[in-house]
Amino acid sequence: SDPGLVARARAAKAALGDRVFILGHHYQRDEVIEFADVTGDSFKLARDAANKPEAEFIVFCGVHFMAESADILTSVNQQVILPDLAAGCSMADMATAEQVAECWDVLSDAGIADTVVPVAYMNSSADIKAFTGRHGGTICTSSNAERALTWAFEQGTKVLFLPDQHLGRNTAVRDLGISPDECVLYNPHKPNGGLTAEQLRDAKMILWRGHCSVHGRFSLDSVNEVRERVPGVTVLVHPECKHEVVEAADLVGSTEYIIRALDAAEPGSKWAVGTELNLVRRLAKAHPDKEVVFLDRTVCFCSTMNRIDLPHLVWTLESLVEGRVPNVITVDPETEKYAKLALDQMLALP
Ligand code: 13P
Ligand code: SF4
Repeated sequence: SDPGLVARARAAKAALGDRVFILGHHYQRDEVIEFADVTGDSFKLARDAANKPEAEFIVFCGVHFMAESADILTSVNQQVILPDLAAGCSMADMATAEQVAECWDVLSDAGIADTVVPVAYMNSSADIKAFTGRHGGTICTSSNAERALTWAFEQGTKVLFLPDQHLGRNTAVRDLGISPDECVLYNPHKPNGGLTAEQLRDAKMILWRGHCSVHGRFSLDSVNEVRERVPGVTVLVHPECKHEVVEAADLVGSTEYIIRALDAAEPGSKWAVGTELNLVRRLAKAHPDKEVVFLDRTVCFCSTMNRIDLPHLVWTLESLVEGRVPNVITVDPETEKYAKLALDQMLALP
């Protein structure tokens, strides 16, 4: 990266000292990760943001829903900043507050709403988290989805899982032993979600029809092809991948899990990793004694994560030094109150 920008980022960060705390998600560019005070998956970053009360400014190098969650979990005198406001998440956008309210009406009309516990993936807007809190549910991330679902099935007999169908299905089927036949797909673009009242009554898992466009690109062919190309390879994928990909893989887990698996791997071992490319490239560089390849041959960055780059970070930090606070992410108090219930429920999961 541009040495001039690196020097400016260093100088601005040093000038701010403890007033600023920079969080970096594992899918961020190397040039950004270099300046992160802490890196992590979305669970770890939410917890770390909540535990940094002395920092005036939390600069969140990640995507919009992560910054919102940080705003909910931090105190009122802290400001959460997203270096580029266009860093959204296409999966989070797949469930709007109106659509989810309509879905709840459909569940009520089918006579099942009081048996349903909503579980919302962290990758959702604050509105969806508030809906979840209002209806006694919990948030989950890819590193605690099994515990969240287990908890939810202790509270009710059915789960509405939002918005990632794949994480919902993979966790239900692989970890909780729920049959794929007991999972139904709710399509927000169809009347009644495209489901009959009878289908809803028979289902255990009601999966929202959302997905990650990055992880959705890995296919069964990618797994078969890499096994042929790299004999003896261990295939390690993120649970946002399609069910058939997860079934064909050797290991499945969140970004933190993937990092730990590579750290613990034997020298000389071979790995094909199915997650975002910035992370896979960083892992390959960190483990020169192992063979680490990307699961698919086509390039697969998360384009919105990549919007946060060094120029945006420098602009953010220099603005703070000059006394301007740009791109503050704030959740309104009413939404925050209920979203926090659901987030606190997640943080309290056993
Ligand atoms: P984790 O960091 O929780 O594994 O989530 C991956 C992801 O897609 C974040 O947007
Ligand atoms: Fe959203 Fe997928 Fe990008 Fe994560 S990787 S921010 S889920 S689009």
